[in-house]
Amino acid sequence: MDDQPARVLDDLYQEGRAHDGPLADRLPRPRDMTPDAARLISTLIRARRATSVLEIGTSNGYSAIWFADALRDTGGRLTTVDTDAARVTAALANLERAGVRGYAGVRHADGAETLAGTPDASVDLVVLDAERPAYAGY
Ligand SMILES: C[S@@+](CC[C@H](N)C(=O)[O-])C[C@H]1O[C@@H](n2cnc3c(N)ncnc32)[C@H](O)[C@@H]1O
Repeated sequence: MDDQPARVLDDLYQEGRAHDGPLADRLPRPRDMTPDAARLISTLIRARRATSVLEIGTSNGYSAIWFADALRDTGGRLTTVDTDAARVTAALANLERAGVRGYAGVRHADGAETLAGTPDASVDLVVLDAERPAYAGY
């Protein structure tokens, strides 16, 4: 990974740890993936030469930066959706700052509705990272 996205990922990781630590309630936290989890999925994207990835649950774009960086290598593109408008705005700014904005489309949308409107076999990989109790319905 280039220095530019790596620096932004490191900043977001440190900010997330500082911000989330004192918060007892889970929902206001960005709840970004761990670096290991995001790296593993990025490795799958590269290994599979995936060109189309859909993520449900963008938050501040931490995982999206990892995936967009991998998709830059495969010539692909990420679509990521979140129901929280402020997080969509933050994610767009963070992807831009990381230099990978061109490899990701960020939408203010509901995951279930997005999946229902996504034709079968039209994406190589779907990453569910929203609210787990909803997954069965997806
Ligand atoms: C665990 S965080 C995502 C973390 C992000 N993938 C990362 O690692 O940087 C979960 C996100 O899912 C969003 N969310 C919750 N329900 C959703 C839904 N039905 N559709 C889309 N996003 C949803 C929340 O607003 C929150 O930002």
